[in-house]
Amino acid sequence: MKFKCSPMEPYRIKMVEPIGQTTRREREKILEEAGYNVFAIPAEKVTIDLLTDSGTGAMSQDQWASLLKGDESYAGARSFYRFEATIKKIFGFRHVIPTHQGRAAERILFEAMIKKGDFVPNNIHFDTTMANILVRQAHPVNLVIDEAYDPKLEIPFKGNMDPEKLEKLYHQKKGHIPLVMITITNNSGGGQPVSMANIREISHLCRRFKLPLFFDACRFAENAFFIKEREKGYEGKSILEICREMFSLADGALVSAKKDGLANIGGFITLNDDSLAEKLKHLLIISEGFPTYGGLAGRDLEAISRGLEEVLDESYLRHRINQVRYLAKLLEEGGIPIFKPIGGHAVYLLADEFLPHIPREQYPAWALTVALYREAGIRAVEVGGVMFAQKKGRGGKEIFPPLEMVRLAIPRRVYTASHLEYVAQSIIELFKNRQKIRGLKIVSSRDPLRHFTARFEPV
Ligand code: F0G
Repeated sequence: MKFKCSPMEPYRIKMVEPIGQTTRREREKILEEAGYNVFAIPAEKVTIDLLTDSGTGAMSQDQWASLLKGDESYAGARSFYRFEATIKKIFGFRHVIPTHQGRAAERILFEAMIKKGDFVPNNIHFDTTMANILVRQAHPVNLVIDEAYDPKLEIPFKGNMDPEKLEKLYHQKKGHIPLVMITITNNSGGGQPVSMANIREISHLCRRFKLPLFFDACRFAENAFFIKEREKGYEGKSILEICREMFSLADGALVSAKKDGLANIGGFITLNDDSLAEKLKHLLIISEGFPTYGGLAGRDLEAISRGLEEVLDESYLRHRINQVRYLAKLLEEGGIPIFKPIGGHAVYLLADEFLPHIPREQYPAWALTVALYREAGIRAVEVGGVMFAQKKGRGGKEIFPPLEMVRLAIPRRVYTASHLEYVAQSIIELFKNRQKIRGLKIVSSRDPLRHFTARFEPV
């Protein structure tokens, strides 16, 4: 990671949005009112918002211009056909089903495919995927390679699924695995990419076992960029060619367009199976809308079509990935423990190393999100014990996930290098005074996805 200066933004700014400024005293009060949950803080009271890279990106002038061309017809809108053509060009599947966002795609696909007691493997399930499987009384299973849980190990494709684990699960749970999933990039495991070789190997296994393979492909272009950068034989290929090859190895994909779709809302399912597609469209009509709009406005479909084209631009992707690396470099120079290598959309702080004096039962990563907001008005998200702990037995003990992290997700085309410098400086300052940070206890929560609404108190 060598930068002579910060990576230059490949765009200039045409519209500006003021940033919230608050005092430490105000933030202390806001935290108390929010039950020490940063999801409950009004965005206006946040200085730098790194809660998520989902739906928070800035649209381009072409995307904004395209909104005026949105065809708002209920059925057969021109905007749908454009959306469908763009997705077919990149993903190559026969059917394209719009949804209002990624988790709606999950809910509909899982309703059609998953029965009570089934097992659904993934490298690592994202929280909403996991929840949508749990509500069907089925079991999400994470089969990422063991190395993924070593936060310091630098290997190029730490998001890979372990084929041996998949084979083992197949033999143990034969007849109870309705589909296999691969998340690109692996959000819950540090935003790490999956290699083409691994995708090919998993795809071969799935074909042998006659199991459909679906990508959770929100950050597909970032994954393709890493393949181009790191995998032999792909240096000279375009991002589009790499995407086409990745998707040719699967049966379909679920996509939240709020990430690499460069849009503020939207998602889709794309797949080859005709009869499954019919079933999905029927489910779509019941809750999302007619299959040519799926809960979106015609103008949203236009913005997503353009966004999907723009995300394939290598100069965009290079800056995107380098911007994340730049923040990581500044943090590392300040001695901050972070997950390595640096993923595509975020830097992940290792909260258990940052706050070794706070036990897991007092949620160190959550405590760090609270401290970051209190000290600097920065909002980040916990990816640790609050988000992913499993409960054992009746009202029982929590089993904590292997990684206890805080994710600093970088919204696309939103913040400049100086914003990132502010973030790094603030975190380095906080690190010097980390002894003062206290743990938290949960006072109310509701499963699944308790992190969105739980309330806490300092211990
Ligand atoms: N899958 C992955 C890997 C995701 O990261 C997300 C969303 C979803 C599915 C669901 O998509 O939000 O459109 O319903 N991730 C956001 C995040 C929320 O902050 O990482 P959605």
